[in-house]
Amino acid sequence: MKRIRKAIIPAAGLGTRFLPATKATPKEMLPVVDTPAIQYIVEEAAKSGIEDIVIISGRGKRAIEDHFDKSYELEDVLLKHNKISELEVIKGISNMANIYYVRQKEARGLGHAIHCAKTFIGNEPFAVLLGDDLVYSEKPCLSQLMDAYEKYQSSIVGVQRVDKEKVNLYGIIEGDDIAPKVMKVKDLVEKPDKAHAPSNVAILGRYILEPEIFDILENQKPGKNGEIQLTDALKTLLAIQNIYSFEFEGKRYDLGDKLGFVEATIEYALRREDLKQELKAYLKDIAGKF
Ligand code: UTP
Repeated sequence: MKRIRKAIIPAAGLGTRFLPATKATPKEMLPVVDTPAIQYIVEEAAKSGIEDIVIISGRGKRAIEDHFDKSYELEDVLLKHNKISELEVIKGISNMANIYYVRQKEARGLGHAIHCAKTFIGNEPFAVLLGDDLVYSEKPCLSQLMDAYEKYQSSIVGVQRVDKEKVNLYGIIEGDDIAPKVMKVKDLVEKPDKAHAPSNVAILGRYILEPEIFDILENQKPGKNGEIQLTDALKTLLAIQNIYSFEFEGKRYDLGDKLGFVEATIEYALRREDLKQELKAYLKDIAGKF
């Protein structure tokens, strides 16, 4: 029985949909309420039982490394001021998981970013969690996919149905239902236009992949937008191995998109006991004023 121990979090993209904020700040570090996006992702991986995480980093992304590093000065100040609960939070961040970094020298696409972690992963199945895709769910999204992997022992893509008007924003799959929430994938296409989309079942930021994907990525030609696309490589993998999709439970937010980010900020704040009442009253008060 193969087990998933390692995860890749690609976080080297340029974040052009979120300029100017992302000019000097990694979009993965933008805070949802008071926590950087990528911390939620690392927490999800750790809660799912992942032992080693590699973050694909790039120029201008140093803040990510600093965030997960130990902060002696800050810890010292918090201790001196007897801010014990804050101190525990700060210490917890640097102890969350074993985190490693690989640099993608040029943002050549998600497929290329994943290929950068080939040596780190070696010859075992692994997870991918996109650094700007947040999923709020009772059971961590990755853990749901890992349960499916235990059963099918082959690559799994996390999916949900999206609005038919928005299929051009995602990798879209075509498949046959084989069990509740599970499809055997027949075809995949990256960002199809509405007229040519095989369905509205979209791949949303979570994958479990077999290591054979690395050899495919090595020879993958640039696809949509001139980038090396993971979806194109998955299509090639499909010719030699089964790929399954799993419709995960939970609300997914695209933090790389301005509206997605604002929605996440409001909804995460509404889930917080310390903010909920005042924010609800505020939203009620301003509704209809704009
Ligand atoms: P996105 O397509 O959402 O990221 O990739 P992007 O390219 O930064 O976005 P825009 O369209 O310019 O706003 C999904 C994830 O893959 C990473 C991103 O950092 C993001 O977390 N990524 C993307 C890389 O690591 N390298 C790349 O070359 C591209």
